[in-house]
Amino acid sequence: MINYTDKIPNNVDLGRDRVLQRALEHWQPAYLSWWYDMGPTDSNAYEVYLRTAISVEPDGWAQFDYVRMPEYRWGIFLQPRDEKRQVNFGVHKGQAAWQDVPGEYRSMLRRIIVTQGDTEPASVEQQKMLGMSCPSLYDLRNIFQVNVEEGRHLWAMVYLLHRYFGRDGREEAEALLARRSGDTDNPRILGAFNEPTPDWLAFYMFTFFTDRDGKFQLCALAESGFDPLSRTCRFMLTEEAHHMFVGETGVGRIIQRTCEVMKEHKVDDPVSVRALGVIDLQTIQRYLNFHYSVTLDLYGSDVSSNAANYFTTGLKGRFRETKLEDDHVLRDASYPVYEVIGNKIVAKQVPALTALNERLRDDYIGEIEDGVARWQRVIDTAGIPFRLTLPHKGFHRAIGNFAGHYISPDGEVLTEEAWKNHEAQWLPTPQDYAYVQSLMSGCVVEPGKFANWIAPPVRGINNQPLNFQYVRFN
Ligand SMILES: [Fe+2]
Ligand SMILES: [Fe+2]
Repeated sequence: MINYTDKIPNNVDLGRDRVLQRALEHWQPAYLSWWYDMGPTDSNAYEVYLRTAISVEPDGWAQFDYVRMPEYRWGIFLQPRDEKRQVNFGVHKGQAAWQDVPGEYRSMLRRIIVTQGDTEPASVEQQKMLGMSCPSLYDLRNIFQVNVEEGRHLWAMVYLLHRYFGRDGREEAEALLARRSGDTDNPRILGAFNEPTPDWLAFYMFTFFTDRDGKFQLCALAESGFDPLSRTCRFMLTEEAHHMFVGETGVGRIIQRTCEVMKEHKVDDPVSVRALGVIDLQTIQRYLNFHYSVTLDLYGSDVSSNAANYFTTGLKGRFRETKLEDDHVLRDASYPVYEVIGNKIVAKQVPALTALNERLRDDYIGEIEDGVARWQRVIDTAGIPFRLTLPHKGFHRAIGNFAGHYISPDGEVLTEEAWKNHEAQWLPTPQDYAYVQSLMSGCVVEPGKFANWIAPPVRGINNQPLNFQYVRFN
């Protein structure tokens, strides 16, 4: 169980380590001042119907109550230790899992933790303004839930930095509060986390595509031979599931509403659809293309010696590592990656160890395809002849073998000029953003009411009715 009477709620017996406790109590006000500065705009007095974990068991989410977000009980929650756990892959396979940082891997491990940790506050910063244009109280509550949990994910990584990396770790923890999404001088580490999230369609796309990258990274780190990292990631994954739910159902509800209006008014061209105040399916497709492609870049280069090192050393595994049936060492295995040669995309077998980024990206794509197929069913059920498609994985890429090439969504290699001629069909234009923004000029805060451009969800949060007062304004 989690002890909420402590200043910093935790299940790691923080009180036993006075030095660590003091270091974290010192970081806590800095964190709060970051929240006041970069958390959701004007929200500090709101009482939000939030869930708080009462234990780390899968059913530990029993606690729902009204909370002012600055008073949210951010804390440190690790899955319980399995005394028999081993390093399950790489050259140390079969050793007991490490309870301390192996000295020779210290800087590599710190880099992994900092890179993961940096994404957490970044997404809160990206979503800061969206509460001002919420489509309903239900959606407002959901974005706030996502935001406080991303804040907690930062706590999770900062705990590891403070507990296991001494002074270097404390400095990194401060730097995590100093960088800012999109800042020219001190940006967040990864590209997608410096892109703006200007509207709610972008927010749902982000939580569907980019939070799912978070899931896959956390799954790979949950396999780590460094046991405290594994245990903290396992608990973070239970929080991540809700974020992806918000994204998938959010986009699904927008599609549903558009389809309803198209059917009711018997219109199908984007201009007529927009005239009815909903988002045309073509614009939804362009948003999808954008968020998918920038998220694919987060997995890194197709061929990467860093990825090989992370695996060989036992620090970062593959998706579902222990469920895979191979030697978990990969010394002789190969894996296909793609290259652009002339005007063709060709597959090439490379050592599997160096292709682990590509492999994780492929695992991710599999799950994305399933989600997009569920959105397609909404369109099919409405009887509308429109297909949502995932672009080719080389489309609009800035990192890896496709960077610098001009690939169409169908996977054709084009000249720069030919590609640019089609860009406005493939990626959101300034006019698209302006249109979507125009729909979201105010917020809908009457209980049970939803903006015209989105359908209500199937059910409320924690079995509450749709007209429940999910947020109280004070
Ligand atoms: Fe997160
Ligand atoms: Fe998340």
